Amino acid sequence: MKELEGKVAVVTGAAAGIGLAMAERFANEGMKVVLADRDVGGVQEAANRIVDGGATAHAIAVDVTIPGEVEAFADEVFRDFGNVHLLCNNAGVLGRVQSSWQQPVENWRWVFDVNVLGVAHGQHYFLPRMIEAGEQGYVLNTGSIAGLLSGPFFAPYNASKHAVVAMTECLHHELRATGSRIEVGVLCPGWVHTGLADLEAKMPDSLKMVNAKVEASRQATERDDSVRKMVAESIGPDKIAEIVVDAIKEGRFYILPHPERKEDVRNRMETILEERIPTFGAPPAK
Ligand SMILES: NC(=O)c1ccc[n+]([C@@H]2O[C@H](COP(=O)([O-])OP(=O)(O)OC[C@H]3O[C@@H](n4cnc5c(N)ncnc54)[C@H](O)[C@@H]3O)[C@@H](O)[C@H]2O)c1
Repeated sequence: MKELEGKVAVVTGAAAGIGLAMAERFANEGMKVVLADRDVGGVQEAANRIVDGGATAHAIAVDVTIPGEVEAFADEVFRDFGNVHLLCNNAGVLGRVQSSWQQPVENWRWVFDVNVLGVAHGQHYFLPRMIEAGEQGYVLNTGSIAGLLSGPFFAPYNASKHAVVAMTECLHHELRATGSRIEVGVLCPGWVHTGLADLEAKMPDSLKMVNAKVEASRQATERDDSVRKMVAESIGPDKIAEIVVDAIKEGRFYILPHPERKEDVRNRMETILEERIPTFGAPPAK
């Protein structure tokens, strides 16, 4: 989709981080932006700042895990804006950094509800009307490099992001097979400096109570700290937004803003094709 000016962009998880940076960048490109997030105050403030900058922006409070809320959100956007040209299913959560067997099952459900069903809901309630409108469009699902690799202690997150990559590939083939004018892409960044690792702030209260009962080992606390440190030392979301805009204009499908991680992806693919034991972040043992 080469021309963005005057078109309508919808971004979930837009109160902060990558979603906010994308919404701001789309507004700078002359798009009308709809920002959605479960953080009601945050998303309203973000939209106000964009409006103060002279662009058209609208905030909607939505929890992407609740189908009825996403349906009402889509109804409101199509009623007020006529069509959606760029749909960014971006809201996501990291979950606890813990071994697979120690993760409370509620954590698995939460991470899958937001990261996988959140994307499915966006596609289900927005895409039929985007297709029916017959205009050019683009769906961007936020995956992660964790959707192309499988590192330790992030099993729910990794599994959910592998699902997002698979869902987006399926969607691409389906849209091509049905002659639609909608293009698709999956954003797969490495670490980005956002609030993703601020677990306490992101977790629903019911889940905080469940997790409070799981005693964090010294190693688990150290792992949490090291993730926060890696996130804090990473590139900013503005850079990701710049790369996303170029990718949308160029019609790229896989968007990998961290080229230094490509070798890890290549190594993983090699271990699969050569039927070796998996490696993570290192060349396969020959
Ligand atoms: N930060 C990274 O290192 C990184 C790397 C790769 C991929 N990602 C992905 O980027 C996306 C954005 O994350 P971020 O890094 O900007 O994190 P962030 O925590 O700064 O922003 C995520 C936003 O999503 C919102 N959100 C969470 N659950 C929601 C729900 N149920 N309904 C609606 N909104 C909800 C949060 O309120 C928040 O505003 C996520 O999908 C994440 O998995 C992040």
